[in-house]
Amino acid sequence: MTALKYPLASEIAALMKAAETRSAEVHSVDDLEKFRVEFLARKGGIAELFDKLKAVPNDQKPVLGKELNKLRSHVESLFEAMHHRLNSQSKKEEEIPDLTLPGRALPVGTLHPITQTLNDIAAIFTSMGFAVANGPEIEDDYHNFEALNFPPDHPARDMQDTFFISEKVLLRTHTSPVQIRVMEHQQPPIRVIMPGRVYRNEAISARSLSQFHQVEGLYVDRNVTFSELKGTLVAFAKEFYGSNIKYKFRPSFFPFTEPSLEMDITCFICSGKGCPMCKRTGWLEILGAGMVHPNVFRKVGYDSESVTGFAFGMGIERTTVLRHGIPDLRMLLENDVKFLEQF
Ligand code: DAH
Repeated sequence: MTALKYPLASEIAALMKAAETRSAEVHSVDDLEKFRVEFLARKGGIAELFDKLKAVPNDQKPVLGKELNKLRSHVESLFEAMHHRLNSQSKKEEEIPDLTLPGRALPVGTLHPITQTLNDIAAIFTSMGFAVANGPEIEDDYHNFEALNFPPDHPARDMQDTFFISEKVLLRTHTSPVQIRVMEHQQPPIRVIMPGRVYRNEAISARSLSQFHQVEGLYVDRNVTFSELKGTLVAFAKEFYGSNIKYKFRPSFFPFTEPSLEMDITCFICSGKGCPMCKRTGWLEILGAGMVHPNVFRKVGYDSESVTGFAFGMGIERTTVLRHGIPDLRMLLENDVKFLEQF
């Protein structure tokens, strides 16, 4: 062969051999890089031979050029094969899981304690046959006060410091207006609870918030009695706070009920001995209630002679702090995960 006559031919053959020998010694990424520098880099062995090709007589150039190209593509494919092998090796090592490692716990969210309390209250009353209804947080004076028998300029309106939006529109101060809305759209018998957010223009402190939740209850039918009211409330309190609680009813005043009462249970923090939670009285007030005032029935067009009913209302934040012994209402609003995780 003419090509072999020229010394470059044997140099090409020698480099081919060297590349093959060296490739057998490549075991790591570092080895591979040395291989690349030795043969394929800009100043590597192959580039050197291409330089020498320039000095070769013209009649030899095509044959030797072809040999050189062969050398280069052979070494390149050696390189690619080794590169591929090293890569998949390191991937395999990564992919083998260590089955002895303990699992990583995923952060799991929980329902907010206010939501939990609401759900628990709703579960007790729905099991007694109550349905659930909702009403608007932006209310009118009529539903929030007038239809609930708060006379205009009556001091009872001062019991609830109101956020007014305009003269006749306001943020509801309690969930009682939903009673009116339900009765406006439905005839007795009615058995419904009405949870929701309410607003009062009050300074925020450990014991009061300007925005909180209530659950309202309403039961209207023929011959609903005061004993049924008491029975329902006792059944609820025992289910919610525990069957061994002690309770008492105190007379109270609300414009929309007559008679009205408030229900207390013995403080379960101190068992009635007196502590900061119960303001040293041994008793905790848990709700307000009463027999629906005939004026309220008249406002919604019911015959106040033939139907009677009872209503009750309780604060959810208050219920939640009582139930868990939380010292400050504001903790419910801070969204501190360390606090929330405990429920
Ligand atoms: N609406 C009252 C309040 O916000 C709570 C209440 C008391 C609701 C007596 C009632 C009730 O339905 O009968 O303080």
